[in-house]
Amino acid sequence: MSTRHLHLGQTLRFTASPFEAGPEAALHEGSGALVVDDGRIVQVGRAEDLRTGDYASVTDHGAALLLPGFIDAHAHYPQTGIIASWGKRLIDWLNTYTFPEEMRFGDPAYAGEVAGRYLDLLLANGTTTVCSYCTIHPESVDAFFTAAEVRGMRVLGGKTCMDRNAPEGLRDTAQRAYDESRALLERWHGRGRASYVITPRFSPTSTPDQLAALGALWAEHPDCLMQTHLSEQTDEIAWVKSLFPKARDYLDTYERFGLLGGNGLYGHAIHLEPRERDRLREVGAALIHCPTSNTFIGSGLFDMDGLTREGHPVGLATDTGGGSSFSMLRSMAAAYEIAQLRGRALHPAELLWLATAGSARALRLEGMIGALEPGLEADFIALDLGSTPAIAQRSARAGDIWEALFPTIMMGDDRAVAATYVAGRRVSASG
Ligand code: GUN
Ligand code: ZN
Repeated sequence: MSTRHLHLGQTLRFTASPFEAGPEAALHEGSGALVVDDGRIVQVGRAEDLRTGDYASVTDHGAALLLPGFIDAHAHYPQTGIIASWGKRLIDWLNTYTFPEEMRFGDPAYAGEVAGRYLDLLLANGTTTVCSYCTIHPESVDAFFTAAEVRGMRVLGGKTCMDRNAPEGLRDTAQRAYDESRALLERWHGRGRASYVITPRFSPTSTPDQLAALGALWAEHPDCLMQTHLSEQTDEIAWVKSLFPKARDYLDTYERFGLLGGNGLYGHAIHLEPRERDRLREVGAALIHCPTSNTFIGSGLFDMDGLTREGHPVGLATDTGGGSSFSMLRSMAAAYEIAQLRGRALHPAELLWLATAGSARALRLEGMIGALEPGLEADFIALDLGSTPAIAQRSARAGDIWEALFPTIMMGDDRAVAATYVAGRRVSASG
């Protein structure tokens, strides 16, 4: 009996990055088909070529657009409950809203409840992979990876290390950060679909000793990713300069402790100095753009055009709960608006690529997820391009796939995600 499952719908695939090859890098099939077997995509093509065959099931998604599941390259799942908290900028926002909430994640029951709720929100929004910060508590990491394992999701995450400038109960030490991160890494890295990410929060909340300890851990596990924050707000940068008077710039507070590398993920990266751009590019580190967070907390305008032209790998992210949404559609819309304020109109192909293949590349998961290609894991969604009356009346007069898709990018939310599949299995439907 066949184990192959056929999915019919419109499809979009990329032969290259549209930032390098232009929108022509995207191939649209109005009547496309996807064959899934044992959790992987095994064939992609035209419905008329693949329709006849021996299938265990055939699912016709109608006019919906089949896309890879979205990949959120930077988020804080423990901030789920404090998303959309009013009125503060970064440092005050951390102290007022974030730290008190993160304090609660030493309780495994609470951590498990939020992790499950968070991942279900992601799936309803079409996000199948996230790279998340946890809290200082190892329990918060176990809760996150366990909730993802139950759902079959490919996720990345790590214990957020802090040993200064954070309240009692939310600080470890250099040694504990090393020991607990290493134990969690050994428990989770490469288990099923989990990847452990070494996670110093940012240099203001780590002593030089802690940064050095985590740099040493990374040197012992260079295949792991390392994530942190970089140059998000000007007040933060001034604070970093006062805490590290000998550092050449913000990036140097990581570089001098072994925390700059090609497997590094640097969240925000808005106010970069020329030396920082040069060094980040030389090592091939990924910059993670968090547009709804950058406008919500008032951080600044990421230089998407300049940085992609210079060849930096860039991923796209919500940065929940500094970011004001769980949706990568909303993140694409905000990325568009920020680039517009800098004089560049991002093409829908570029926005879509950032939320899928671009984030996969940034997370070093290219070839596993982020594209509709044979051999890749079957994490995909069916996107309804007319999910609300406002969107439907606009997309109805579209002349091509980009005009049909762009209203959903700009105005869509979880109602546009008609179905989400993780490793070939349907996990969420809102429509
Ligand atoms: N910088 C350090 N920690 C955080 C955080 O939790 N959110 C954001 N947006 N920036 C940070
Ligand atoms: Zn963040």
